Amino acid sequence: MKSILLIISIFITAASSAVAENNPVRQLLKSYQSETPIQGDANKGQKLWNQKFIGKEPFTERSCTTCHTSNLKKSGQHIRTKKIIKPLAPSVNTESLSKVKKIKKWLKRNCKWTIGRECTAEEKTHLLTYLNQQ
Ligand code: HEC
Repeated sequence: MKSILLIISIFITAASSAVAENNPVRQLLKSYQSETPIQGDANKGQKLWNQKFIGKEPFTERSCTTCHTSNLKKSGQHIRTKKIIKPLAPSVNTESLSKVKKIKKWLKRNCKWTIGRECTAEEKTHLLTYLNQQ
């Protein structure tokens, strides 16, 4: 009896850690943490999300809200191409933040466009923590 319980608990532990590994946001946060031992802070993420940066003409004022707006549950619009961008909030768009590769690609591209450089591991930690809670 005891050994059956042990086997069951091993299965449960294995299954739940498999789920954690499949969670792309958690997986990314873990990899950033290996660079910077910092806890994600949604308030800092929100502040950075709304912070304005100076860019080249014709888009001299840039922020993450330029294309995504400050309401993540609503659709955004690309400032240049005018293409509609689906809401980033996972609570209304289950596809959002669901693929590690896609998150990495867009964070890299969007930080460069908005801030003029790639985001640091610390900035990405705060941003993803904020986005993931929406
Ligand atoms: C110039 C327009 C633009 C700006 C500014 C912008 N983004 Fe994006 N972002 C996009 C587009 C377009 C996509 C792709 C949407 C899609 O394919 O569903 C995207 C996707 C993303 C994704 C991936 C979402 C997913 O589906 O997993 C993240 C994360 C993201 N942006 C974060 C940011 C952050 C953080 C900033 C500010 C530093 C920012 N974006 C600024 C246009 C922009």
